[in-house]
Amino acid sequence: MNPARRWFLGGLLSLMGGCAAMRELPWPRTVPPEPQEADLGLRYHEWSKPGHARYEGPPPDWGTQPPRYKTYPDVPRITLPTPLEEEGGHLMAVMRARRSQRNYRDEPISLVELGQLLFAAQGITYPPGELRAAPSAGALYPIELYVLAHRVTDLERGAYHYAVQTHTLERIRAGDLRDAVSAAALGQGFIGEANVSFILSAIFQRTRWKYRERTYRYVLLEAGHIAQNLCLAATALGLGACPVGAFFDDDLNALLELDGHNEAALYIVAVGRV
Ligand SMILES: Cc1cc2nc3c(=O)[nH]c(=O)nc-3n(C[C@H](O)[C@H](O)[C@H](O)COP(=O)(O)O)c2cc1C
Repeated sequence: MNPARRWFLGGLLSLMGGCAAMRELPWPRTVPPEPQEADLGLRYHEWSKPGHARYEGPPPDWGTQPPRYKTYPDVPRITLPTPLEEEGGHLMAVMRARRSQRNYRDEPISLVELGQLLFAAQGITYPPGELRAAPSAGALYPIELYVLAHRVTDLERGAYHYAVQTHTLERIRAGDLRDAVSAAALGQGFIGEANVSFILSAIFQRTRWKYRERTYRYVLLEAGHIAQNLCLAATALGLGACPVGAFFDDDLNALLELDGHNEAALYIVAVGRV
């Protein structure tokens, strides 16, 4: 083969090889993925449903429990004054008193108390900017709040949505949902005995359009803020609260007719008279 012909064939082969290799590359897509498809947080959300990880191969090795506290034993240590209940007023006493309570008395709570709890969780505290009791990234408020009411004076049993703007409850389902919510929460019976169970869900797109890949972080952080407000408000009202993160996502979503994709349940807070 003469040198010119060999050079031509060599070039052709390397070009073909290059094309084949390029087919394997994650070639940029001309059509951007749908927001839900691009959102890795949402994929993680699916994967973290109870039992799901086990179906995808051998069970993960989650390691052992690390020490509860971090400490620097060899550096200077400054003893702080003992926290005083008087400093900071009532809030400090409430924070000290808050405990996760799972035993509730068989007495109703009032609609006034329920209203206070909802206001503490999501109420509008600064009407000019429609800002709420709990902070929200970009004031986008992705969290929705639902109430499963079991023993509330002057309130029919059922599932309600808290309409923030009007400070009203919208009844989305009537009836006794105690067994259903308790079963959805991995059979944790105390949730069925609570006067009310709050369910916090997220509408991811409310945050996603602006904060993109930070979305999943932000919605979980915000649910935490709201749940803590609920727990502290319950304590301040002399009620008991317990946050609950263990539940079958699909069952809880189904209870509220959430699609689990655009809007998904994230957290339960059970509240009852103690
Ligand atoms: C994210 C999260 C999920 C939790 N899930 C549950 C739960 O499913 N069931 C339950 O009984 N308690 C649950 N708890 C309550 C913890 O068990 C409780 O906060 C912990 O024992 C510390 O007690 P304390 O809240 O009284 O300080 C949860 C707490 C958090 C923060």
